[in-house]
Amino acid sequence: MSKGVTVWFTGLSGSGKSTITRILEKTLRQRGERVEILDGDVVRTNLSKGLSFSKEDRDLNIKRVGFVCQLLTRHNVIVIAAVISPYKQSRESNRSLIGNFIEVYTKCSVEACAKRDPKGLYKKAQSGEIQHFTGVSDPYEEPENPDVICETENETPEESAQKIVLKLEEFGYIDKQ
Ligand code: ADX
Repeated sequence: MSKGVTVWFTGLSGSGKSTITRILEKTLRQRGERVEILDGDVVRTNLSKGLSFSKEDRDLNIKRVGFVCQLLTRHNVIVIAAVISPYKQSRESNRSLIGNFIEVYTKCSVEACAKRDPKGLYKKAQSGEIQHFTGVSDPYEEPENPDVICETENETPEESAQKIVLKLEEFGYIDKQ
């Protein structure tokens, strides 16, 4: 059985977190691993329903997600968290709390994310209809030393997912195939 670990995705909205997560989930399940996902959009409809995008509420959201990740990780689940998590301090707190933790940065310029704009939110943020939008009118603190960087403007989601699988193998969280 695999060791539990939290795979913590951080990156702008539209940078590819959810897309890569789905592929990673499928790959890991095919290999017989137990996987759970905490996706920002889903978390914010239940666990964090009603929270805003102020710094305080984002920190609270990330703390809640980290708490659930910790519980699952210690029961040998591979937990994938896909949340913007724009503040370095919150991510680092979760790394300390959870221990078995790899940070994955879905690196993509604001311009490219805005061009993709899968939910039409960049358009609304740029017109001022939505405020405090990460990368447009709210900060995003890039990770300084992530375990994996997914260059989502230059690689396919499959390639990105594969990089993460290799890292999980390298760190001994899953068996090599
Ligand atoms: S986080 O900052 O607290 O980590 P989280 O990942 O949970 O954010 O939620 C981000 C998602 O909420 C985005 O993908 C987008 O769909 C939606 N969203 C709505 N308003 C905002 C905003 N102001 N900034 C960022 N994302 C927003």
